[in-house]
Amino acid sequence: MAEQQQQSPAEVDGSGSVPGGHPVWSSRWTFVLAATGSAVGLGNIWKFPYIAGENGGGAFVLVYLLCILLVGIPVMVAEVMLGRRGRQSPINTMRRLTTEAGLERHWHAIGWLGVIAGLMILSYYAVIAGWALNYIGKMASGAFQGASADQVAIIFADLLSDPKALILWQTVFMILTLLVVIGGVTRGLGVAVRILMPVLFVLLLILLVFGIQRGDFAQAVNFLFSFNYEALTWAGVLEAMGHAFFTLSLGMGAIMAYGAYMPEHARIGRTVLAVGFLDTVVALVAGLAIFPIVFANPSIAPGAGPGLLFVSLPIAFGNMTGGLLFGSLFFVLVTLAAWSSAISLIEPAVAYLIESKKFTRITANLLLGGIAWIVGLGSVLSFNIWAEKQVAGFNFFEFMDFLTSSVMLPLTGLFIALFAGWLMRPETVRSELADESGRVFASWYWILRYVSPIAVGIIFVMGLYKTFS
Ligand code: PFF
Repeated sequence: MAEQQQQSPAEVDGSGSVPGGHPVWSSRWTFVLAATGSAVGLGNIWKFPYIAGENGGGAFVLVYLLCILLVGIPVMVAEVMLGRRGRQSPINTMRRLTTEAGLERHWHAIGWLGVIAGLMILSYYAVIAGWALNYIGKMASGAFQGASADQVAIIFADLLSDPKALILWQTVFMILTLLVVIGGVTRGLGVAVRILMPVLFVLLLILLVFGIQRGDFAQAVNFLFSFNYEALTWAGVLEAMGHAFFTLSLGMGAIMAYGAYMPEHARIGRTVLAVGFLDTVVALVAGLAIFPIVFANPSIAPGAGPGLLFVSLPIAFGNMTGGLLFGSLFFVLVTLAAWSSAISLIEPAVAYLIESKKFTRITANLLLGGIAWIVGLGSVLSFNIWAEKQVAGFNFFEFMDFLTSSVMLPLTGLFIALFAGWLMRPETVRSELADESGRVFASWYWILRYVSPIAVGIIFVMGLYKTFS
């Protein structure tokens, strides 16, 4: 496995390929690493805590966990299965499988919708990852040492009000991402996930201990885990479901693209469970690390929005022994987690341009990265000059986030569930999952056919209706 780690899957030579010449990873663990690298990112550490905060905590968390279990995991199995069956970039995989199932051409749209959503997410993802990059220097230079909650809030507000600084860091992050995708995906990913994820996790645990000792841990647990029915709105339920897709990297081809490199006999079910479990644990621990500090400082509100992580954690690091070192390291790791996710946001589109449009890896990256960068400028400006400009009650950044997470990803996820559950021949589906026991397969197939589409359908319609009414 170590050897194969050195190469991009798209560059692995014939030795590891299946009939038809498509490369394969050497074991399912490489898939677990790559998929975890994609799944664990800003969604877990930055987004989950703040949207849980905005939606009142416990009820939101419960819906999110149910969505992971009943929609996210089953759809992830389906995506990996489709990817492995099609063995191409998501767009061409869907083309091949559509033909195989004897269906109309418009089912190809599943691949397109996902690839476009990926680029749209990348546009604002790079902006937020840029904040994390900027915070590495701030932490290391001691800007937060001994700072009060108000002082930290001012430092953050100053950063947001400076478009030039935001564009600089967005650009640096985008270049880092493109460099990895140009150079070969797995090398960056292998290192990031195998070494850095455990370190990130340990640092989160250190923060958790700090929160338990110095913050209001009891109130944080109460906030995150007590079911407060009143706080639950349909708009919040839609956001929780959208986030289940976002955090598992579903509905946009990333997991399908990685599934395409999965060895023939690797067991998809337990592999996906491992990724889903890791991803969920990181999100919950991040929440448990951040909220004790929030509740111990009355000047930060749990519903503070996108700045929550960037205000609450510097307060903790600024006031703990070793905070300078741990704090800098923490934002290095957040950046790296974001990096391994960003790679998977652009890789499906890059793979398609190379496969079908004869682009080189470099030109495909420059074109797609350039487009995402330009669109990202809208998000940069929505934190300052365009803050008041609203579309349907959202500023530009919020609109992009809503459109991708709450609309495009769930829609693609729904189509994937319908495609794999109802349109593909059951024998084909069973043969791809032949290594699963009869009972596991039957339960998954039933959930995918009935529970997931109905849940997504109801939440989607009710959520959209309530969001705009
Ligand atoms: N799962 C990533 C996160 O939680 O930060 C974000 C993401 C990556 C979403 C890749 C979608 C994707 F395809």
